[in-house]
Amino acid sequence: MAGTAIGLGNFWRFPYMVGEYGGALFILIYIFCAFLMSLPIFFAESVIGRRTRANAIGAMKKLAPHSFWQVLGWLSVLTPTIIVSYYSIVGGWSVQYFAESFGLRFGEFDPDGWTALGFNVIFLAISCIIVAFGVNAGIEKFSKLSIPLLFCLIVIIAIYSLNMPGAKEGVQYLVKPDLSKFNGRMVASALGQSFYSLSLGMGIIITYSSYVSKEENIVSSGVGTAMADTLFAILAGFAIMPAVFAAGIEPSAGPGLIFQTLPHVFSAMAPSASWVGSAIAALFFLSVIVAAMTSSVSLIEVGVAFLVEELKISRSLACLLTFFIVLVLGLASVFSSKIFGLVDAFSSNVLLTFGALLAVLFVGWKMKREDVQDELTNCGTANRRSFKVIYFLLRYIAPIAIIVIFVSNFI
Ligand code: PHE
Repeated sequence: MAGTAIGLGNFWRFPYMVGEYGGALFILIYIFCAFLMSLPIFFAESVIGRRTRANAIGAMKKLAPHSFWQVLGWLSVLTPTIIVSYYSIVGGWSVQYFAESFGLRFGEFDPDGWTALGFNVIFLAISCIIVAFGVNAGIEKFSKLSIPLLFCLIVIIAIYSLNMPGAKEGVQYLVKPDLSKFNGRMVASALGQSFYSLSLGMGIIITYSSYVSKEENIVSSGVGTAMADTLFAILAGFAIMPAVFAAGIEPSAGPGLIFQTLPHVFSAMAPSASWVGSAIAALFFLSVIVAAMTSSVSLIEVGVAFLVEELKISRSLACLLTFFIVLVLGLASVFSSKIFGLVDAFSSNVLLTFGALLAVLFVGWKMKREDVQDELTNCGTANRRSFKVIYFLLRYIAPIAIIVIFVSNFI
């Protein structure tokens, strides 16, 4: 679960959102959304998955056959396919920066080119090949190594970044909330980001939870995943923002932010022995690629599983088909940063929010309370007291908040 949650959402998307919405206030709202709204939804999806032991479409077929709730299953095929179309473009940028880190000669950040398309193809092809081979053994081993490695690297980078001349302003930006910047759009984006980062609202947590054994405590797994995910996001903020200010880059530069900023940090690391900077840069981008892949693979897998199970085609053909569909879907985003932004905002702020709302309404209002209680308390043996709080959040607070924020998106 940490493998799907921790990815480009933490290293790339979170820091640039923080920059777009003006710093500390966004972080505070994000933490609030992550623990009070997203975590209950995480539990809701876990309940659906572990109860049915099936993928999202299968789960909804079991729990509410021939009803409106099937939409939740369908969204879980549609949304990830749209998301991975631009996610793999960012994955491609990381591959390009990895390649360039060997000479520490980073080109201008130019996301709209044929080069970006080429690297996108590489990233997407590798992801599809991994999915074609099956994800279990490889991905789990991969994540267990890459996530701790990434943690160490991000801490090292944060230390360097915090010590760059002029970094103080960046720290201020991250810790001093500017209340005058508050607006509804910011809250909607913080919520959307927390769904995105925890992989919610599209059946991924349903699918992953279907593999979790009945003895496992899904409440503590959820809390652990959310804490690790938030920690990585905040660390990434502290690694990037001070360097942004030190290098004189606009914090609101948008999706290119980390790619414009980090090269400055790497070149400043060891001016007299540039291979040190090169090595750290290469290691860093490599682990970002791996973290991105553990996420992109989960995004691709849902569509592939659907093609294999429903249309009865072979796994390799399904992967090939998915590769081309995703590539074509992403073409507009590769060549236009405007469309890239629109696709990203629509899928994260609209589709994910809608999916999350359905999950929470289903578990809070449609499923029997006893069933939900059984799952969240392991048949009454754990979390008995916290269940009441979780159930309350799930039934009332989360749906109301999501609806209010969702509607504020459109007015
Ligand atoms: N949570 C992943 C990230 O932070 C992205 C993702 C979203 C992956 C949804 C799978 C499903 O990068």
